Amino acid sequence: MFPRAKLLVFTALLAALAPADALWPQPRSIETGGTPLRLSGGFAITVAGSAPSDLHAAVQDAKSFISNDKLGRLVVGRGAVDVAAYSKAKTLSKLTLSLEKGATAHSITSEAQKAPEARDEAYTLTVPGDGSGATITANSTLGLYRGLTTFTQLFFYNEGTTYLLNAPVHIEDAPAYPYRGFMLDTARNYFPVSDIKRTLDAMSWVKINQFHWHVVDSQSFPLEVPGYPELSQKGAYSASSVYSPGDVADIISYAGARGIDVMLEIDTPGHTSVISKSHPEHVACPEATPWATYANEPPAGQLRLASEATTNFTAGLLAAAAKLSPSTLFSTGGDELNTNCYAADEETQASLNATGKTLEQALNTFTQVTHKALLDEGKTPVVWEEMVLVHNVTLNPETLVLVWISSDDVKAVAEAGFKLIHAASDYFYLDCGGGGWVGDFPDGNSWCDPFKTWQKSYSFDPVANLTDAEAKLVIGGQHLLWVEQSGPENLDPAVWPRAASSAELFWSGPGGNLSTALPRLHEVAYRMRQRGVQAISLQPEWCALRPGACDLTA
Ligand SMILES: *[C@@H]1O[C@H](CO)[C@@H](O)[C@H](O)[C@H]1NC(C)=O
Ligand SMILES: *[C@@H]1O[C@H](CO)[C@@H](O)[C@H](O)[C@H]1NC(C)=O
Ligand SMILES: *[C@@H]1O[C@H](CO)[C@@H](O)[C@H](O)[C@H]1NC(C)=O
Ligand SMILES: *[C@@H]1O[C@H](CO)[C@@H](O)[C@H](O)[C@H]1NC(C)=O
Ligand SMILES: *[C@@H]1O[C@H](CO)[C@@H](O)[C@H](O)[C@H]1NC(C)=O
Ligand SMILES: *[C@@H]1O[C@H](CO)[C@@H](O)[C@H](O)[C@H]1NC(C)=O
Repeated sequence: MFPRAKLLVFTALLAALAPADALWPQPRSIETGGTPLRLSGGFAITVAGSAPSDLHAAVQDAKSFISNDKLGRLVVGRGAVDVAAYSKAKTLSKLTLSLEKGATAHSITSEAQKAPEARDEAYTLTVPGDGSGATITANSTLGLYRGLTTFTQLFFYNEGTTYLLNAPVHIEDAPAYPYRGFMLDTARNYFPVSDIKRTLDAMSWVKINQFHWHVVDSQSFPLEVPGYPELSQKGAYSASSVYSPGDVADIISYAGARGIDVMLEIDTPGHTSVISKSHPEHVACPEATPWATYANEPPAGQLRLASEATTNFTAGLLAAAAKLSPSTLFSTGGDELNTNCYAADEETQASLNATGKTLEQALNTFTQVTHKALLDEGKTPVVWEEMVLVHNVTLNPETLVLVWISSDDVKAVAEAGFKLIHAASDYFYLDCGGGGWVGDFPDGNSWCDPFKTWQKSYSFDPVANLTDAEAKLVIGGQHLLWVEQSGPENLDPAVWPRAASSAELFWSGPGGNLSTALPRLHEVAYRMRQRGVQAISLQPEWCALRPGACDLTA
């Protein structure tokens, strides 16, 4: 969309020794000076005018991060080296948030839940060098919230003093791409609501604005859908591994207050084996073996897409699930359809015979009917790339396409004229490189080997090989965690801080410098740990305290 804005950085001598602004994602435009400021004991954040309750809550959270982060600056000697600089510094006692003239104060939640292109996340942040009040202005509460998130990253801590070194600060910021997501699979293994909330917290700290919730799959159906309670009753791993409508509402409101929209996915017609537990009449080849003949992953089983009753059932299910979230987006999946399964299914063959349709034609009907149910609910359908590149189905032109198999497929999706989301396994899959998970296969490897480092995703070019017109179809991108080999026990280390790399790529735009990004990403990890998220170390601490010293050619 927009190339990475030329960063205007005026750095004074002191600050030049080490990164004094370790913001992530890097603002589109930032000017800093070399004046230290201490935070006053009575530091206050006020909101001008009337403010929605989620903005008030965000202010409380920001105050608590500023007092509790207690992050020593990542330099040799940590904060002790800054004592001389800050001990006689002026104090900052106030931050004021205000909407610009003419803007209306809606909740952060409602601003975040708009269609991606309608979200206004822009803000201006100023910290004067003389200790007079800092300000954040924006045209939406969502913009104020993004500015507040940046503000909390400005401060370091040493021996009772919270301070910054680089006032005056002036930031004008807005994202390069409107969709910056993270996908979590909660079907291969279940994650309690608290894990999802902690993940949403961490997402908000790096300004990710879309939670793509791949909530169900072939192995388990942990989502309780109103009107379809039997699906989770018979399909969840246990009665306690279920997201009730109350849990879903809780997650959605928690996300919304943090500037994050929740897109649910019910993958169809593949990846649905578990539906056979409650509705055997709707599933072809349930748990057929050898599984590898009938599916990409055990257990086999797919919705009988040629059946009118199954199509109707699926449309009803999707419409009911769509009502659970106010998002404008809903994903119907559509990946990895297995034709052997349908060839072996007498019911499907009989339906095809009776209607005289090919399987592709039946898939087209299935897709049109199920997507119409979503369009009737006011949703924009979202699909995995095969629905455009492999199958011959007619999709609503507004349909968003997730490119997952390979970044090489981006061009073809754009050529087909669809808006797309980067989610390619060769850059953004967090589960690659962990060895094979299929049993009795000692030499098995993960299919998408090797491990995708943060550097790999950070270096991705979202518009490679696209014409200007095609580039406009890119609405953003995301990291993804499929959880065959993950659970609550390794969620944080699998995701953080790696997923922050796409958060910056799609906020700040491509072309970021790996060498200058690394110290800032160290800080993301250190700050996340201070806030209770177990982000992994990227290097020995020796390197984290010496920016550049561990670069290959240093
Ligand atoms: C707010 O909107 C006005 C008018 O469109 C614009 O000039 C200004 O830059 C916007 N402010 C921010 C922070 O986006
Ligand atoms: C389709 O489903 C609805 C409920 O969602 C039901 O009322 C209707 O009878 C079904 N029609 C067919 C043809 O199965
Ligand atoms: C479908 O039609 C084919 C060819 O007409 C026939 O061989 C097959 O037995 C039929 N299958 C079913 C399940 O009706
Ligand atoms: C795709 O479907 C359309 C009608 O829906 C048909 O005209 C066309 O021949 C099909 N193309 C292929 C490659 O099957
Ligand atoms: C761009 O096209 C070149 C030449 O076809 C190819 O080698 C490269 O992988 C493509 N890059 C992306 C990101 O699609
Ligand atoms: C990245 O930044 C470093 C430090 O400013 C600089 O030396 C290096 O040339 C930059 N690398 C690229 C590829 O621009």
